[in-house]
Amino acid sequence: MSKVFVKTQEETERLGMKLAKVLKPGSVVALCGDLGAGKTTLTKAIAKGLGITSLVTSPTFTIIHEYKEGRLPFYHFDVYRLDDEEELHELGYEEYFYGDGVSVVEWADRVEGCLPKDAIRIKIFYGDGENERIFHIENIGD
Ligand SMILES: Nc1ncnc2c1ncn2[C@@H]1O[C@H](COP(=O)(O)OP(=O)(O)O)[C@@H](O)[C@H]1O
Ligand SMILES: [Mg+2]
Repeated sequence: MSKVFVKTQEETERLGMKLAKVLKPGSVVALCGDLGAGKTTLTKAIAKGLGITSLVTSPTFTIIHEYKEGRLPFYHFDVYRLDDEEELHELGYEEYFYGDGVSVVEWADRVEGCLPKDAIRIKIFYGDGENERIFHIENIGD
């Protein structure tokens, strides 16, 4: 597991851009962390790093947003409003997770049972300062 400490939003954005470089078809990035931790901020930076130029907004009500213009298809999940994993099945999540694109899942701990074993897991914690965050990253590059 690696830990990354950041002091600013810009550093989080740089981390997201860097992460984007190692993502491959079928990569799933599972994001956990409290509201305001920076899941969407990181996701937007990953999208930017993949070459997505359109506005990436949180799919809170629609669960999934798809973007096709980047280096790889990009699927942004926000499962905050799902009642259970069964609903994710109904959305056909396997087509996304095991397909040709990259999936990023906000609130991934709510759908733990659906996550592939090799998902890149990122937990975001608040640090002491207002803009400080600590990223715990597991399962990257192995
Ligand atoms: N180091 C940082 N990384 C990410 N976001 C930060 C950081 N410092 C402050 N912020 C602020 O925290 C908020 C993060 O919101 P967001 O990314 O939507 O979180 P989440 O999706 O986890 O609820 C934003 O308002 C952002 O400006
Ligand atoms: Mg969010």
